[in-house]
Amino acid sequence: MAQPVKATHNAGRYSSGSAAMTHGGGTAAVAPQRRRVLARRPLRCQADSAEAAESGVAGVVAQRERVFLVTGATDGIGKHTATRLAERENTRVLLHGRNPARGAKALAEIAAATGNDKLEYFNADLSLLSEVHELARQVQAKHPAVDVLVNNAGVYVEDRTVTADGFELTWAVNVVAPFLLTRLLLDNITAGHQPRIVNVSSISQTEGGGRLNFDNLQHERYYDAHSAYGLSKLASVCFTYDLARKLKGHPSGVTVNCLDPGTVNTKMLLAGWGPCGIPVGSADNELFLATDESVEAVSGKYFVSSRATQSCRQTFDNDARAKLWGVLEEQSGVTYN
Ligand SMILES: NC(=O)c1ccc[n+]([C@@H]2O[C@H](COP(=O)([O-])OP(=O)(O)OC[C@H]3O[C@@H](n4cnc5c(N)ncnc54)[C@H](OP(=O)(O)O)[C@@H]3O)[C@@H](O)[C@H]2O)c1
Repeated sequence: MAQPVKATHNAGRYSSGSAAMTHGGGTAAVAPQRRRVLARRPLRCQADSAEAAESGVAGVVAQRERVFLVTGATDGIGKHTATRLAERENTRVLLHGRNPARGAKALAEIAAATGNDKLEYFNADLSLLSEVHELARQVQAKHPAVDVLVNNAGVYVEDRTVTADGFELTWAVNVVAPFLLTRLLLDNITAGHQPRIVNVSSISQTEGGGRLNFDNLQHERYYDAHSAYGLSKLASVCFTYDLARKLKGHPSGVTVNCLDPGTVNTKMLLAGWGPCGIPVGSADNELFLATDESVEAVSGKYFVSSRATQSCRQTFDNDARAKLWGVLEEQSGVTYN
């Protein structure tokens, strides 16, 4: 079922180099490989520019490394986003996955496709609270600042499954894990430069009625895979709106947005909806929200096709969102106060 993802290659010059792989804790050398030098858009930092001007280095703009963490970067849209990020100059990409072999493969493929030697892999099953905590610990141990967190990992689950923590699996991975991971990494994110939090929702937020049914959040009474998935994506928008509100005016200038990444032919789409999407190699909406300068100061929005768009009605119900927030604090065991 899994669709192998081919990294997109633009024409470019090559020079020799070496890449390093970091797996959770350890680092392993990778055989030297040809490094592609791409026409990359420089990431400029005002402070750095000022320093360069002060030092009298005409025309030279110092560039600051930007650190991105992409969850679910071993396949589909997350892997594509990680690849596109890795193509950018001065960019470190922290790839997350749940299977070490798939993680090593994704890292090697992205390193080979982009020539980026600043890729690291972190392993965690996001259906388990303990592993979300461990992921955060491992990231924190290496990266005091994470400029952008892309909460991309997600599942569509045909038959109701309950995790070891007692949550319905779709809810655990798509809702509780991003809520918890974002909280655990919030100090690192707000220590970043022009930090962003990007939550991956879906136009499927209306599947299942577009309502937060608090009597059946875990679908104990009745399970339908599309309803469970739609509910999780509705909750993702609600989480985004409330987190953006809570972080409004934060000195770091952190932004929080969510998006529908497009209908994309990944293994998830094939499993739940069939091959009705665009090729993975064209799925650039996550990249846009994670990097584009035009959305640098935008927060608390839901994007479709890279445009801020109206989400479904219940996401504007303050009481329902507040109730959901309380449920998520209880389920995840963290508060944002
Ligand atoms: N494809 C679409 O048309 C579409 C539309 C709207 C929204 N989305 C959203 O886009 C995001 C990416 O989906 P996709 O279509 O690219 O799906 P995908 O190809 O199935 O990729 C999902 C990623 O999440 C990882 N993942 C799944 N369960 C996990 C767990 N328990 N712990 C840790 N990682 C886990 C997967 O790891 P493995 O590689 O090990 O499977 C994979 O890396 C999801 O949030 C999805 O809901 C997709």
